[in-house]
Amino acid sequence: MKIMKNSFLSLLAIAALAFMTSCEGPMGPVGPTGANGTNGADGLNGVDANETCKLCHNPNSVDLIASQYELSKHGYGEAAFAEAGNTGCGPCHLSEAFKYVCQNNVSAAFIPDPANAGKYLNGYASVSTAAYGDITCNTCHSAIHSTYGSSDLPSLTTVAPVSMTFFGGTKTIDLQQDGGISNLCVKCHQPRPFTNSNTDKNVLDYANLIANPTALFYSAADPGVDVLKPSYRTHTHYGSVGAVFAGKGLCGVEFAGTKTYANSGHTTLASCQQCHMVEPDAVNSKSGGHTFFAKGNFNGCNVTGCHTGVDANNTTLWVNPRAAIKTLLDQLGAKLKVLNSIDGVSYVEILNRNPNTSETAQVVVNGVTANVGVNLWASLTTNKYDGYLNIYDPNSNPAGPTYNTVQFKSPSTTNWTAAQIAINNTLPVLTLTNAQMGAIINFQLCLREYSLGIHNYKYVEALLTNSIAAIP
Ligand code: HEC
Ligand code: HEC
Ligand code: HEC
Ligand code: HEC
Ligand code: HEC
Repeated sequence: MKIMKNSFLSLLAIAALAFMTSCEGPMGPVGPTGANGTNGADGLNGVDANETCKLCHNPNSVDLIASQYELSKHGYGEAAFAEAGNTGCGPCHLSEAFKYVCQNNVSAAFIPDPANAGKYLNGYASVSTAAYGDITCNTCHSAIHSTYGSSDLPSLTTVAPVSMTFFGGTKTIDLQQDGGISNLCVKCHQPRPFTNSNTDKNVLDYANLIANPTALFYSAADPGVDVLKPSYRTHTHYGSVGAVFAGKGLCGVEFAGTKTYANSGHTTLASCQQCHMVEPDAVNSKSGGHTFFAKGNFNGCNVTGCHTGVDANNTTLWVNPRAAIKTLLDQLGAKLKVLNSIDGVSYVEILNRNPNTSETAQVVVNGVTANVGVNLWASLTTNKYDGYLNIYDPNSNPAGPTYNTVQFKSPSTTNWTAAQIAINNTLPVLTLTNAQMGAIINFQLCLREYSLGIHNYKYVEALLTNSIAAIP
């Protein structure tokens, strides 16, 4: 900036001279050339501004990174567009909202609702004037063009410990390896809280699910039992990786069981960047660097002090552990079922199946063509669960009956047509125990960490194994 400012000032000086001479009589002879000026305050000769620009604007730095970034879902994903204006979704989806919660250190605590005595609000939100913006370079890099010198990068927006919204701010993740850069990722890649939607709207008491496993959590048949009315979209949200990676004590409903909760070495030794921003792989150029994808790129595993010889065929470090977690997900999914209230004999699956892996695929349900949405996790379980619940909703889950013969009754029938209510009334009713609710939460966390245990094998194995044992 200094260099530009200096040349701008000399232009001003020339303009001022020209102004002064213009009010006088005929111009005199041109004077002798003055002495060269001194170096600027920065001590540099007045080099061309373009040269400092080239520090970054060259084919190997910002230009290269910008083209990698086109392959990053941060860049091409559409959620920032869809959630624009939403102050609650913004802290993780909108650039200005993310910067707002970082700069103002917005607390993840639930706060008493000023308009409703005895109720709470989730305080983790931005203000509406900052609820916009695609995730881009300056979302994560806070000093771009502040000095036009090389020190402007990386200057990360935050590396501070992350107060977890999942626990209403009562727990904090702090991944200190590599100067805490993983905390930047975790600030967004963390699960969202479950709230007691029908009582005080505070964070769900996860410890109570463990302490009273057989107590009823929800019963469609008994309006008195209704901590949280489950719907198709009752879920931990998609960013479960941060919590799973941090692991023990910072994630999930830790039922006691045969497996002791512990973390794999990754939790303290590896940073997100080490696997996700490693050198791009020649074979799989859609990963590494600023694509942020780990998929198919083993360069991060095979570094000095970590592993050797890891690739997609390595049985001990890739194939077998992932197969073991897949089996546990399948087992827990199969156990999450309730008695069919209509025939009183068969069982209904609680988890939704969705085999769709294409953005555009449509299915025909009850004579209506619907886009069921992509299941990003379809390959992770045999039944292709997507982490949602198998609950009928004519708007967001009209296609459910294609994959399951029966659906749950949901009492949320506002704005439904008579025909939709009629369909709903033919379906079995849903009842959930505390243990089932806890197991659903754990299933969602472990499915959506996406790596089948690579992020934190020991922890995922314990969470799933003990959840399977906790439900009948
Ligand atoms: C420390 C690194 C760095 C330096 C030095 C630097 N830039 Fe940039 N510049 C960036 C980054 C990072 C971006 C964002 C790239 C993107 O969005 O693709 C950027 C973007 C830009 C843009 C596009 C702005 C926009 O809104 O799309 C222009 C124009 C630009 N720089 C000009 C310059 C000029 C002129 C200089 C020298 C005076 C300079 N930059 C020096 C890092 C730098
Ligand atoms: C400002 C919040 C934010 C930060 C910081 C952030 N992410 Fe993301 N990330 C997102 C969101 C939101 C998406 C999904 C975008 C969409 O689909 O529109 C995403 C998507 C991704 C994906 C693709 C997931 C998929 O579905 O295939 C990866 C991988 C990823 N991020 C890794 C990282 C890593 C590693 C870091 C840290 C270096 C990081 N992210 C930092 C918000 C963030
Ligand atoms: C605490 C952070 C956080 C909050 C708050 C949040 N999200 Fe997200 N969301 C994420 C992350 C991280 C991802 C990407 C995870 C991945 O793909 O691995 C994501 C993914 C998504 C996706 C899927 C995009 C895709 O890849 O197909 C949608 C849709 C979405 N979020 C909508 C919302 C809405 C609507 C809200 C507000 C009601 C919201 N999110 C609030 C972190 C958050
Ligand atoms: C989701 C967060 C995120 C986004 C978005 C992002 N970066 Fe980065 N960037 C990082 C992280 C993390 C690092 C590694 C920092 C470190 O190693 O200390 C990094 C490193 C860099 C570096 C290397 C700095 C150095 O000293 O080696 C450059 C240059 C850079 N980013 C430019 C960009 C540009 C240009 C864009 C947009 C096209 C961008 N980044 C978008 C997170 C991000
Ligand atoms: C030890 C290596 C490693 C570390 C460290 C790591 N990841 Fe991953 N991550 C993976 C692997 C492997 C996958 C699965 C890729 C695949 O399907 O092949 C993955 C998948 C993901 C995905 C889903 C999208 C995708 O395919 O890339 C997200 C989002 C993600 N990780 C975020 C993070 C965040 C945030 C951190 C830090 C808290 C992190 N990861 C740390 C290895 C790692």
